[in-house]
Amino acid sequence: MNIRLFKPSVGQEELENIKEVFDRAWLGNGPMVVKFEEAWSKYIGCKTSVGVNSATAALHLALTAFHFPEGKKVLIPAITFVSTATAVLYNRLIPVFVDVDPETVSIDLNDLQRKYDKDCVAVIPVHNGGYPVPMDRLMEIAEMLNLKVIEDCAHCAGGEYKGKKLGTWGHIGCFSFEEKKCMTTGDGGMICSDDLDLIEPLRAYRWVGIDKDTWRRAENAKGISENEAMHWHYEISVLGYKYNMNDFAAAIGLAQLKKLDAMNTRRAAIIEKYLEGIKYFKTIKPVFPYDPGNGAYWYFGIRSDRRDELIIHLKNKGIATGVHFYPLTLQPLFKPYAKNCPVANKIWETFVTLPSHADLTEDEIKYVISELNNFSSI
Ligand SMILES: Cc1ncc(COP(=O)(O)O)c(C=O)c1O
Repeated sequence: MNIRLFKPSVGQEELENIKEVFDRAWLGNGPMVVKFEEAWSKYIGCKTSVGVNSATAALHLALTAFHFPEGKKVLIPAITFVSTATAVLYNRLIPVFVDVDPETVSIDLNDLQRKYDKDCVAVIPVHNGGYPVPMDRLMEIAEMLNLKVIEDCAHCAGGEYKGKKLGTWGHIGCFSFEEKKCMTTGDGGMICSDDLDLIEPLRAYRWVGIDKDTWRRAENAKGISENEAMHWHYEISVLGYKYNMNDFAAAIGLAQLKKLDAMNTRRAAIIEKYLEGIKYFKTIKPVFPYDPGNGAYWYFGIRSDRRDELIIHLKNKGIATGVHFYPLTLQPLFKPYAKNCPVANKIWETFVTLPSHADLTEDEIKYVISELNNFSSI
């Protein structure tokens, strides 16, 4: 067998939506993006959403929205993908790495309070692997410390915590639709919030600073109005980026959104099978306490004291694996900011990510479990 670690689950529905984009021959930021943003807001339960080309862009702009003075600090977990931290640096702010909880591998709320000082202005909780940060507790702490909260929901599209969608607990939620994630647009991201004053200006920031997108200007050009000759006019008053979503991505996203709950349910069922399959193994444990009935888990991870041997064993059997994540505190770029994260700096050594994408077959799951079993008994 040859089993991929991640795989987007795409098919006819996505192709049909793409055809609509071809038929209209408007490929850039256009009506599909608007439709996808509206559908996403409705699905998540927020007032407004802004489509961008990645969660990296979403996190960058989410911090930009607050116009924090240069040099202020943002609390982030030590174990996450690089984009959580680069968003802070892009905004000329300082990342403060918070250690992770040894059980859940997400931001340790006690360490967060220890690392806080009066220059901290925001926190970016990451729902790592889809395991939800306890957002009720985090929001209490954030309120007490006057911190803005940007949820990094790159791993948990569709997930909930205590019956409320992840991404709607904080001031802003940022999602990733990169090809490996819970749902995909190829590459893409979404910024969501209930605060229109905060979010609406980001439409210019994602479109190189221009205050009117080209689709709306083209539509306006069709009408007869007093200032018809000025339909082309736009204003640039902020330093923007080329971060917009395009209609291809949105077309795929609209089809994927319809399947998202089913894909999350399928991944939960796969995880349940893994949990059952490894329950008596002495040296292999789940990476965190999965609760497949709750949340939207992006990947299934395990901990093994013989991590590298296991990775090689599975590789030789045609099973792809990964490690999520090597701590940012050990990366050269971030070492100057890395202080006191002993848990993060150690626990990653046991992590292995296993295939758990929605298209994984029953035979493939059985095969992976039997190879874990073979390895455990060596
Ligand atoms: C936690 C986290 N945040 C942000 C990102 C960035 O997502 P994107 O690839 O859409 O930029 C990723 C990507 O894997 C991620 O894992």
